[in-house]
Amino acid sequence: MRTNPGRFLSDLHELRQFGAAGVGKGVVRPAYSEADIAARVWLAQRFKEAGLTPHYDPMGTLFGLADGPSILLGSHSDSQPEGGWLDGALGVVAALEIARASKNAGGPAVSVVSFQDEEGRFGVTTGSTVWSGQLALEDADKLTDRDGMTLAEARSAMQPLLGAFVDPSRFTGFLEMHIEQGPWLDEAGESVGVVTDIVGIRDMRITYVGEQNHAGTTPMHLRRDAFQALGTFNAEINERFRNVVTPQTVWTIGHVKLYPDAHSIVPGKATFSMQWRDGDSARLGRMEEIIREVAEAVARERGLTVSFGQMLGLEPVRMDASLRAALEASAEEHADGAWRSMPSGALHDATNVSKHMPVAMLFVPSINGISHAFEEDTDEADLIKGLEVLAGAVARLG
Ligand code: GLV
Ligand code: MN
Ligand code: MN
Repeated sequence: MRTNPGRFLSDLHELRQFGAAGVGKGVVRPAYSEADIAARVWLAQRFKEAGLTPHYDPMGTLFGLADGPSILLGSHSDSQPEGGWLDGALGVVAALEIARASKNAGGPAVSVVSFQDEEGRFGVTTGSTVWSGQLALEDADKLTDRDGMTLAEARSAMQPLLGAFVDPSRFTGFLEMHIEQGPWLDEAGESVGVVTDIVGIRDMRITYVGEQNHAGTTPMHLRRDAFQALGTFNAEINERFRNVVTPQTVWTIGHVKLYPDAHSIVPGKATFSMQWRDGDSARLGRMEEIIREVAEAVARERGLTVSFGQMLGLEPVRMDASLRAALEASAEEHADGAWRSMPSGALHDATNVSKHMPVAMLFVPSINGISHAFEEDTDEADLIKGLEVLAGAVARLG
C-alpha cells in the first residue's frame, strides 16, 4: 500500500481552514459550531471522492463507509474552545488517506469516522459514548455546555444531515492515530508511540451557593462568599489527595463561573468543573469520596450550600493485543529504534469504541508536549512517519 504524504498533508492544512484562529496553526472548532459542521460537510465530500458512503449518525458523528465488512480508522474533527490543528483531525485525515491508498492497492476495506464532541463541550467524548451504548441519546440531549445550551438544541443545527446509528458489527476493529499531547516522545526524539492503555476519567460540576452582597459594606465575618469556598475547597483537596495519588494522577478545575461576576459584588454563587484522571478505577473512586467530603465540609464551615452535577466518567481501557502487535510490527519496520510503547494520559474515542470491537492507538510527538492550545504542533516528518506506521499495520491486518 502506497500512501500519498503530499495529499495527506494538504488535506490536513485544508481542514485547518475551518475555524483557523489564533497564533500558529490554532483552531476554534467546537462541536456543532458553524466551523465544525462545515468541516464535516467538507470531510463527507472527501469521503465520497474516496469511494466511501458518507453517513451522519443522530449525534452528528460522520462515517465514510466502505461496502461490506471493514476495519474502522479515525478520530474526531471537533476542537476545544481553543485548540490546535492536529488534535483529532490528524486521525481522521490519516484514515482518509489510508482508505484511498488501500482501495488503490486492492488492500483491506477501510471505513473512516469523525466522532462528534470528543472534546466534551457537552460531556466526555459524547458522540462515541452515545454510539457505544453507555449513554442514551435522550439523556445526552439534556447535557448542557458551559453557557447552559442543551445538546438537543446544539445538534438541531445538524438535523437535516442526520441519519440512523451505524451498526458496529460491520467493523472488524478500530485504529486511532493521534498526537501524544504530552512531552515524552518529543523529549526522547522518538517518532511513534504504540499505546498500551488509556487512563480513566471522572468529571462533574460543583456549585456553591452563598449570599450575594455589597463588596464594600459587608464585613468579612458576615460574608458567605462562594468564591472563598471554592478557594478553600481547592487548597484542601490538594492536601487530602497527597496520600491517595501517584505521579501519574491528575486533577483540574478548568472552568469557573462566578455569579454575578462583578468587581464590587461578593459572589453569591460559584459553579466550577472538577475533573480527575488515573489508570486505576479504585483510585478514581477514592478521589471522588474525598471531593464530596471536602466540598460538603467547606460548605458547612462557611454557611453555604453545595450541589453536585451529573458525574460523567470512563473507565481505563487496555488496547487489544493483536491490533497492538500489528502496530508494533509496523513501527519496528518504519521507525526502527525511534518508537516506544506508552500509556495515554489523554482520553480518546477508542475508549468507547472498545465496547463494540477491538481497538488500538498510535501516537506521534507533540512539539514541547503542548496541546489544547493554539501552539500545538508536530513536525511534518513525524506526521508522515505515523501515517506510514498506521498504513503498515492496516496492510498486516488485511
Ligand atoms: C481529550 O481531549 C481529553 O481531554 O483527554
Ligand atoms: Mn483528541
Ligand atoms: Mn483534545
